[in-house]
Amino acid sequence: MTKRIAVFASGEGSNFEAIAAACQSGRIRAQVVLVVCDRPTAHVVERAARHGIETFAFDPKSYASKADYEREIVARLDAAQVDLVCLAGYMRLLSRVMLDSYEGRIINIHPSLLPAFKGANAIEQAFEYGVKIYGVTIHYVDASMDGGRIISQQAVPYEGNDIAELEAMIHALEHELYINTINKLIAESRI
Ligand code: GRF
Repeated sequence: MTKRIAVFASGEGSNFEAIAAACQSGRIRAQVVLVVCDRPTAHVVERAARHGIETFAFDPKSYASKADYEREIVARLDAAQVDLVCLAGYMRLLSRVMLDSYEGRIINIHPSLLPAFKGANAIEQAFEYGVKIYGVTIHYVDASMDGGRIISQQAVPYEGNDIAELEAMIHALEHELYINTINKLIAESRI
């Protein structure tokens, strides 16, 4: 059976795009069946529409609590029969509502070699620190920030001075690592 993926994102959506394109070209034997976005004006919503992928874009402020909107998300994931949830720039921690239903089937990508440089602006943080070896991590998601068990990592040396160049390198690496990691989980029957 072709595995069914949901991508959660809050902003640009370049990782969503890479995953969706890899599914469409057959490089990943899976299908992106749902995009979840907590910012209805985010670019990822437009990208999802271009791919013809069903999207749940919501404003968290219109719900009484995180538990409330996560219950709605879980209902949509269940309805779409999702096997794997890929967080890709989704800027919110998950509560027990999501974790109780999908823990072990939710993964996240982070642009640093965790456990270094957790949180937002990780590339900038590492650059400011004077890091010489950067990298990308994909990990299982738990209730902590960027804290779940690591699935895959890739390092990249960079000693230049141009943060835009560095960011472009890291984002390109992210796209490859996400595709390869999803393929690995499928090949090893881990989803
Ligand atoms: C990526 O750097 C990802 O690692 C981080 O947020 C960024 C999302 O980028 N969690 P995009 O929206 O996929 O372009």
